[in-house]
Amino acid sequence: MPSAEPGWIQRLARGRVWRSIFRGEPPGTARGNAQAVFQNLWLHFLPVKVRPHTLRFTYTFYLGGIAFLLFLVLAATGVALMFYYVPSVERAYHSIKDLQFVVSFGPLLRNLHRWSAHAMVVVVVLHMARVYYTASYKAPREFNWVVGVMLLLLTLGFSFTGMLLPWDQAGFWAATVGTGIVGCLPVVGKEVRLLLLGGDSVGQNALLRFYVLHCMALPLAMASLTATHFWRIRKDGGLSLPPSQESMASEERVP
Ligand code: HEM
Repeated sequence: MPSAEPGWIQRLARGRVWRSIFRGEPPGTARGNAQAVFQNLWLHFLPVKVRPHTLRFTYTFYLGGIAFLLFLVLAATGVALMFYYVPSVERAYHSIKDLQFVVSFGPLLRNLHRWSAHAMVVVVVLHMARVYYTASYKAPREFNWVVGVMLLLLTLGFSFTGMLLPWDQAGFWAATVGTGIVGCLPVVGKEVRLLLLGGDSVGQNALLRFYVLHCMALPLAMASLTATHFWRIRKDGGLSLPPSQESMASEERVP
């Protein structure tokens, strides 16, 4: 038999100090738990209750969550890299060399950013495959699928723009070939290529534009679309069920 005595958390939560900081009922009751989630800045985007099936590791493999975690690692290491990297054709290559051979923990920082970037592309593609395999793109989640496609394009955009920044042969030729392909797009191709390069070929203007895209425009777009993606998961009734179970889905939810 569970004891009727309140635990130390409940006793603390009923105390005057706690109640002067946090409003609502103490956690432990169903209502208290719900209020704790609603009123917390970090927790409020999570549902208070979820369908048990969606918690299984083998349903989602946590791939979306891992992709988000990788994005956070990339943002943190990217900001640290900005303290060393100089986006000029004279200094870019040498600033990366300095990071690699002179700066303390520089290779660790660079490799964390580089390998997280490669991993993110793989994980996002796998996440997309999982969503497709479980038919989670179907109604009512069509809009979130479209948001997901944009997230995939942004992820690839990060890879493409990031590759030029070390200003080495691989990056230079990737940007030359990539913008060449963009230039072949019908109607707008030449204008978009000019917009990306700021000239006829890959040079200082292109390096600066790719840098601004990589460190400002794409992160802002990624952050706002990720927020939209998470918000849609909530509004679409939480995660999907496998197609075989969707028709007989119970409304059972667990806290
Ligand atoms: C930066 C990239 C992305 C991030 C951070 C992300 C994050 C997430 C997270 C955390 C979930 C919850 C379930 C899970 O972990 O699997 C999810 C679900 C979902 N994602 Fe993504 N995602 C990304 C890209 C994509 C892509 C490329 C697509 C498809 C084109 C997509 C479509 C969906 C859909 C439809 C759901 C709902 C799945 C369901 O209800 O079972 N996402 N996403």
